[in-house]
Amino acid sequence: MHRELEIAYLGIEVPDPTTLSPFFGEVIGLVPGEAGAPGSLTWRNDNKAQRLIVQPGPANDAVFVGIEAAGQAAFDRACKRLHDVGYELVEGTESDAAQRRVGRLVHVATPWGTRVELVVGLAEATTPFESSLFPGGFLTDGVGFGHVVFVTTAFDESHRFLTEGLGFAQSDWIEMQIAEGIELEVRFYHCNARHHTVALAHAPFELPQKLHHVMVETNERDDVGAAFDRAWDSGLEIPMGLGRHDNDRMFSFYVKSPAGFLVEVGYGARTITEPWSDNRRYDAMSAWGHKPLRVA
Ligand SMILES: [Fe+2]
Repeated sequence: MHRELEIAYLGIEVPDPTTLSPFFGEVIGLVPGEAGAPGSLTWRNDNKAQRLIVQPGPANDAVFVGIEAAGQAAFDRACKRLHDVGYELVEGTESDAAQRRVGRLVHVATPWGTRVELVVGLAEATTPFESSLFPGGFLTDGVGFGHVVFVTTAFDESHRFLTEGLGFAQSDWIEMQIAEGIELEVRFYHCNARHHTVALAHAPFELPQKLHHVMVETNERDDVGAAFDRAWDSGLEIPMGLGRHDNDRMFSFYVKSPAGFLVEVGYGARTITEPWSDNRRYDAMSAWGHKPLRVA
């Protein structure tokens, strides 16, 4: 399908970025990225200079997500759409753009509270991506870093931001009862062939973290299995063991990071084709699996 936008990078803030290095580097198996903002550590999963930015600070959450436009025209269209529906765009400084390794950056506050940085021209790394932990590499070409799922009480406003502001389209949604009288609703949004680049979960009340999880997608199914073994050996919580989602059909598992949010490592999701005619309700998260394996 036509690609206009994709995730460039995700910004995480924790008091000490080095505390997440064993997790991202050895458990998940990302590769150190190139230098960006002072005091930050960066990680990559492809040939781009940086895909995950861990900066020092008190938030203990995702604090920004970079959305990359496919070119200057796509960038201008996205800016105009956001502006036209009433969102205030702030032009980033040259220093902002340099730290993010992009050509240009504008940022905008989102209804769910994680700043979106609309960018163009994310820099290539000076060396090709290579990882002994992911010999097959990651699926990012034309679909971006991965996907991110945020939890919000501002569900309808966030939906409007993504669809009317950024021009994402809804892929499908899940409504299911997770406990007696408690409904969970999650909406999934695409902006390229990836089934969803952003999803929103409707929170009944304000939760300590906005980021529920970030997903990276491998090119080889066995690389998910090897990552699962590393997660198991790490002793970290595995709130969702291996399984296959019902809607995007991804084979994956979820491990809890030391900062609290989850990381999903997956393979083989279905892709979006145009015209998309499968925007429908699902009543289950998974076709099989994704059971809590080890939780505190
Ligand atoms: Fe996911």
